[in-house]
Amino acid sequence: MTNRQWIFARAPNGAVSPDCFEWREAPVPVPGPGEVLVRTRMLSLDPANRAWMNGPSYREQVMPGDVMHGFTLGEVVASNVPEFTTGDLVDGMSGWQDYAAVSAGSLTKRNARLAPEHLIGVLGVTGLTAYHGLFDVGLARPGDVVLVSAAAGAVGTITGQLARLAGCHVVGIAGGPEKCDWLVNELGFHGAIDYKAADFRAQLRAACPNGVDVYFDNVAGEVLDAALLSMNERGRIVCCGAVSAYDGGVSPAGSPLLPGLLITRRLRMEGFIVLDYAAARPQAEARLAGWVEAGQLKTFMDIVEGLENAPAGLVRLLAGGNFGKMAVQVA
Ligand SMILES: NC(=O)c1ccc[n+]([C@@H]2O[C@H](COP(=O)([O-])OP(=O)(O)OC[C@H]3O[C@@H](n4cnc5c(N)ncnc54)[C@H](OP(=O)(O)O)[C@@H]3O)[C@@H](O)[C@H]2O)c1
Repeated sequence: MTNRQWIFARAPNGAVSPDCFEWREAPVPVPGPGEVLVRTRMLSLDPANRAWMNGPSYREQVMPGDVMHGFTLGEVVASNVPEFTTGDLVDGMSGWQDYAAVSAGSLTKRNARLAPEHLIGVLGVTGLTAYHGLFDVGLARPGDVVLVSAAAGAVGTITGQLARLAGCHVVGIAGGPEKCDWLVNELGFHGAIDYKAADFRAQLRAACPNGVDVYFDNVAGEVLDAALLSMNERGRIVCCGAVSAYDGGVSPAGSPLLPGLLITRRLRMEGFIVLDYAAARPQAEARLAGWVEAGQLKTFMDIVEGLENAPAGLVRLLAGGNFGKMAVQVA
């Protein structure tokens, strides 16, 4: 048995490309004391994978020579601890490879009766980020106007639907008319705006004539700047991600609107990491599962077949080629 791996070989100079990674076949590792051997079933592809190449953030930087880091859903195939047994389904950070020997403390056991694509999507980091960002950071209330960027992506599709379920008026921002039509016709957004259109700012003002109460920001940069101008007094800006800055490796220049607009409109702008809400996970997961089971929350997966296609998947994700949550089917 071999362990197929993608090694992060060289840091990109600009957009990430497949030649940043090298394929390697290594022996399957043997778990040590306190460790569990996990076989990867699904690998999550996240814009954060690219951000981890730029420097340390809320977690360590991925360095050339490392097995590429990544969130995974895996199956326990050998265990040296009583808490895990063969066949258990677990969340972890096994990275871009078939097998990993990891410390038991780094794993979370999942309910094997649930669909794997739900466990890695709506009932995983993606859904929890949308839920806590919208309700705990954004404090979305019925009647609020909620604006969401990267709205056709993993977090965005869930955020927009949750806001609609909470009785908000939801407007999405996405790249291109096809995604915008999809948001309105398939996901029930009340409006959608194409940030690549020349008249984006005018479209934003027209879609939110009464202003915006909650802006759920997945992208930062110029889209954030445009959204700032539409914020209502006492509005909340949820800083979830800054995908416009990841693939070029540079942070956007500071907005000239800050902090002036925050002061005059009494805005609150708050960043968060989903892990901050770990203690509230069971409750959030149960509510998300309830909406999915009731058919009120639609989930969209963009599945990449085979570990060998992970680099191409990440390149496509950052270029906006995905609808919904992208993940690699590894085994
Ligand atoms: N705070 C947390 O704990 C946490 C947890 C998970 C994710 N996040 C963040 O949430 C955001 C969304 O993540 P996701 O997993 O749901 O990814 P995603 O939205 O499925 O994929 C990224 C999307 O970003 C859009 N995009 C790419 N370049 C852009 C640019 N220059 N300007 C505007 N949009 C651009 C693309 O859509 P278009 O076609 O529309 O351009 C692409 O589909 C990311 O910023 C991520 O880092 C944060």
